Amino acid sequence: MAQVSEDRLLAWRAEFPILARTTYLISHSMGAMPRRAAAWLARYGEEWSAQGITAWDRWEPYIREHGDRIAALIGAAPGTIVFHQNVSTLVSIALSALFQPGGRRKIVTTDLNFPSITYNFAMHARLGLTTEMLRSPDGVTVPLEQWETAIDDDTLAVVVDHGIFRSGALQDAAAITALAHRRGARCLVDVYQTAGCVPVDVTAWGADVVVGGSHKWLCGGPGAAWMYVRPDLIPTLEPRVVGWFSHARPFAFELEMDYSPTVMRFATGTPNIAALYAARAGLEIILEVGVEAIRQRSLRLTRQLVELAEARGLRVNTPRAPEARAGLVAIDFPGAAEAERELIRRGVMLDYRPRCGLRLSPHFYTTEDELDRVFTEIDDIRGRG
Ligand SMILES: Cc1ncc(COP(=O)(O)O)c(C=O)c1O
Repeated sequence: MAQVSEDRLLAWRAEFPILARTTYLISHSMGAMPRRAAAWLARYGEEWSAQGITAWDRWEPYIREHGDRIAALIGAAPGTIVFHQNVSTLVSIALSALFQPGGRRKIVTTDLNFPSITYNFAMHARLGLTTEMLRSPDGVTVPLEQWETAIDDDTLAVVVDHGIFRSGALQDAAAITALAHRRGARCLVDVYQTAGCVPVDVTAWGADVVVGGSHKWLCGGPGAAWMYVRPDLIPTLEPRVVGWFSHARPFAFELEMDYSPTVMRFATGTPNIAALYAARAGLEIILEVGVEAIRQRSLRLTRQLVELAEARGLRVNTPRAPEARAGLVAIDFPGAAEAERELIRRGVMLDYRPRCGLRLSPHFYTTEDELDRVFTEIDDIRGRG
């Protein structure tokens, strides 16, 4: 694809007020707030204040519209997205639909996956669910062969973190989905570390369930996580975790549960409209900038980070091959945990994680000069011991 104009991307900097005060390298945890997100929150307040209960006439269709914007981002059909406060809740709802008495009992996951989700499986052990946790040989990646060996005829689902939060490694979601399907297992993909910075095409992957959220690369704030369910699976999955919004006729208040035929069967109760309004601006900006353009820029900036670290002999816990990298670079050295606090004090927003190091995430608005300056600060901090 044609080289993306850097100027076009950098012109967005003014839309993110925090960039005037900090070097913001923490989209893997919490994306920068766009200026116009405040306007959306104000609008939510005005609608609530002026319209009261009748604001739902606007809010109900808004949920669907916002879901379809997420669908457009991840290559999904309209009507396939449901929202919840966080991914952990969404996974527990998905698991309640997938895990059935007398059925398959094994989950295949890895020791690099985000642990919150793994806890969900472990807590079902008392009901007979087993978890095979693939051990990464290098703390960075999990080879495809390990997945292939582990997936068997008792495998209920494999859980793939598309981008690994500890290392920034990218996993081959399409290949792992194909391995799962070959043995009749489901594939649940977590795209929280990629949606908004790496192209995602859930339809091409054939993934069954995909979870992600608005808080990180989508610059949308907390509380607006989402789940895609493959359209042909929606009417076949019957979650045990439900609520009146999961009902085919919520306002009939019937005593018997009757699943909604749509993705709303995974919705449980009243959704968090404020969070969905807050998430609007960031998502629209990402869609306008375009994930392909973001990916090009991100690959250049993450390469620069790898080179800056290697030039100093620092340990890089992220793959060198561009196609194997998502959006963050993990860099470790003695004293990295203490350096985190000092870097934040100096206005560099990043974090430190055990078995990982300092995590740095440039987004489309980051400049090369900013990354050079971060390493000047790291040199200074290391020099002072
Ligand atoms: C890959 C991944 N999945 C899930 C989560 C957390 O999800 P939530 O807090 O929405 O449950 C994170 C948070 O950092 C993450 O990196």
